[in-house]
Amino acid sequence: MNQQTTPLLDAVERLIHTNPAYFRIPGHRLDRGISSRLTDRTGSRIFAYDVTETPFTDDLHAPEGAIREAQELLRDLYGADESFFLVNGTTCGNEAMILSTAFEGQEIMIARNAHKSAMMGLVLSGAKPVYVTPAVIDAWGIQGAVEPCAVRALFREHPKCTALLLVHPTYYGICSKLQEIADICHENNALLLVDEAHGGHLYFDKTLSGERRGALACGADLCVQSMHKVTGALTQSSVLHIKSHGVREEALLRVAQNLHLVQSTSPSYLLMISLDCARYELAMHGEQMYEKAAALAEDARRRINRIEGFACLEETAQTALDRTKLVFSARGLGISGFALDALFLERFNVHVELSDHENVLAVVTYANVQEDLDRLVDACAAISDTYRNAEEKYDTCVIKDRVCFPKLPEQVLTPRQAYFAPKREIAWEDAVGAVSGQLIAPYPPGIPALYAGEVVSREAWEYIEDFRKRGRHIHGADKDGQLRTIKVIG
Ligand SMILES: Cc1ncc(COP(=O)(O)O)c(C=O)c1O
Repeated sequence: MNQQTTPLLDAVERLIHTNPAYFRIPGHRLDRGISSRLTDRTGSRIFAYDVTETPFTDDLHAPEGAIREAQELLRDLYGADESFFLVNGTTCGNEAMILSTAFEGQEIMIARNAHKSAMMGLVLSGAKPVYVTPAVIDAWGIQGAVEPCAVRALFREHPKCTALLLVHPTYYGICSKLQEIADICHENNALLLVDEAHGGHLYFDKTLSGERRGALACGADLCVQSMHKVTGALTQSSVLHIKSHGVREEALLRVAQNLHLVQSTSPSYLLMISLDCARYELAMHGEQMYEKAAALAEDARRRINRIEGFACLEETAQTALDRTKLVFSARGLGISGFALDALFLERFNVHVELSDHENVLAVVTYANVQEDLDRLVDACAAISDTYRNAEEKYDTCVIKDRVCFPKLPEQVLTPRQAYFAPKREIAWEDAVGAVSGQLIAPYPPGIPALYAGEVVSREAWEYIEDFRKRGRHIHGADKDGQLRTIKVIG
């Protein structure tokens, strides 16, 4: 197929040029009805591309024209059997993967560092999660890769698991040994589902081998990518790919049907066009885009490592990394990741993607420029100058103890059973020992510390309490976001 084309963009363009008397949805009539408050700032042209299903523009839910062709181009670029545009993010892709592969009561293996959308998928499907715990990288206080031996051991205990859902690479850019894990899944007649929300760009590093090559190249049967996160599409635009390995093929046939369940019947053409165009850019320039991001990040990593008190996470024999993710800490200055994040923002107008107790994460993409990285590195140098000889450490958030990831809490109910069970509200401080009626996930990264249906262990409570005390954003907290209360079951 000719990757130089953008079939959906061109189809919408043709529609606009016909100057139609337009009585379809959306009601703003190819931009005429958009508030001038908005168009004064953005210009109006873009809104003309916000159209709907017409004879020109195809239908996402039964594609046979421009959308079909655009999806086929995507499929060919990524080496999939079939690819789908998603307008509700990787969130709906994770839901569809779980819904397609595990039914009510069936067991599915889920990496415990999965995004909270995995729990939403479990609520929809009714499947029973069996959690595989990623290794912890102690020196950095973060979760690392899921080890193939852990997956193998869990299949021995739970041979009926229909699939494994893994996050690869993680938010921090850590890659698991996917090919080995895929082989273990397939030996056990299970599918490998990969949440590749942060990894759509890895396919364009042609120097890569092994686990960093991208999920489809490493044996995944299904994977979802947030094209909006690192590959240039608009927010909410993601894609789902299928690549069959002859295992549980009937499940793969259910994916398209389940995407109907989790996506709007009025998918945004702006989002879909942005996917079409992001795919075009990747096809034309993907390798240069990737190389630019990786070179910027690697240069910054070298420079930050030379600043006193700062250190960057580096690849080791045990830890394969996505080179474009910059994970670093000011541990040597006693400054926590949360405090470093605040310093960057308040004093230097530098926005990092997330922070934790020790580290911050800067996501470097092809669209960053050298000046962005210089500002980041200069901010680190200025912080080092200020705090390395200071009597007082930066006061709000000094690193104390290493974060301790809680052991797996006891699961009493499946997420679906818990979701529909009657609940009562109790004070958060009394929650230890109760069965949680809700998911609790510090955000970002949105990894649940507790799933609904699990017993609130002392460890889990303390882990969450630490985030709460620091005023961090927590999904699942009560109405005022303070987590003063928790809904419990029984
Ligand atoms: C690992 C992971 N999976 C899924 C999601 C959800 O993706 P989306 O925002 O595209 O719905 C996120 C969001 O941050 C994520 O980090």
